[in-house]
Amino acid sequence: MRQLIAGNWKMNGESASLAEVEALACWAASSAPPADILICPPHTLVARAVVIANGRIGIGGQDCHPDKSGAFTGDISAEMLQDAGASAVIVGHSERRQYHGETDALVASKARAAWRAGLVAVICLGETEDQRLAGQAFRIVADQVAASVPQDAIGMTTAIAYEPVWAIGTGRTPAAQDITEMHAHIRECLGSVRRQLRVLYGGSVKPDNARQILDLPNVDGALVGGASLRALDFQTIVSVARPGS
Ligand code: PGA
Repeated sequence: MRQLIAGNWKMNGESASLAEVEALACWAASSAPPADILICPPHTLVARAVVIANGRIGIGGQDCHPDKSGAFTGDISAEMLQDAGASAVIVGHSERRQYHGETDALVASKARAAWRAGLVAVICLGETEDQRLAGQAFRIVADQVAASVPQDAIGMTTAIAYEPVWAIGTGRTPAAQDITEMHAHIRECLGSVRRQLRVLYGGSVKPDNARQILDLPNVDGALVGGASLRALDFQTIVSVARPGS
């Protein structure tokens, strides 16, 4: 399986940051990267990033509303992202779950909205530190897979991002064996029909630990926050992806 390296800029980036998209797209066009590349800038930059990327890398949104349109001030629909040229959207990021009270059911409906608009849904899930310490990580993640990944998800339209909440933005990552075991567990939970979904790892992926993480069995790519903001760091991560077909 060809790995996917996705960058999540979160609430970072103004016009000047488009230079990073330009640099990354130029590099991707000239160096045959071993993985698919997706950058998810803030929504204000999506349309311009699409023009700059010019098909050399994918551009995505960071969230979408379940509905196509309507009286939902401040929200953005999957159709709007698609109209702006996006090819994917992140749904259910832990920061959305935590700060916006998003439930598994809502996340599933956002994934369906992404498909309706022809976008790939990158569905995020992962346990908190308390849950891991209490020995509940596997059960929590199984519950999240069951309730936030629709049964009819297929590899063409959906990727999972396993992001332990305690590893996001902290510089801490799980032990290699814990990542391997959790990814195998997620694949198990996905069942035979959804087996071909890419399962990305996210949480403090950096240039200096990317190779070790991307080499692990059942890791089909990475969702990168902080280290996606600079093209050079992100390129370093993409370039150590495991080559695949
Ligand atoms: P981080 O963020 O790489 O900065 O830890 C990852 C994410 O939140 O997707």
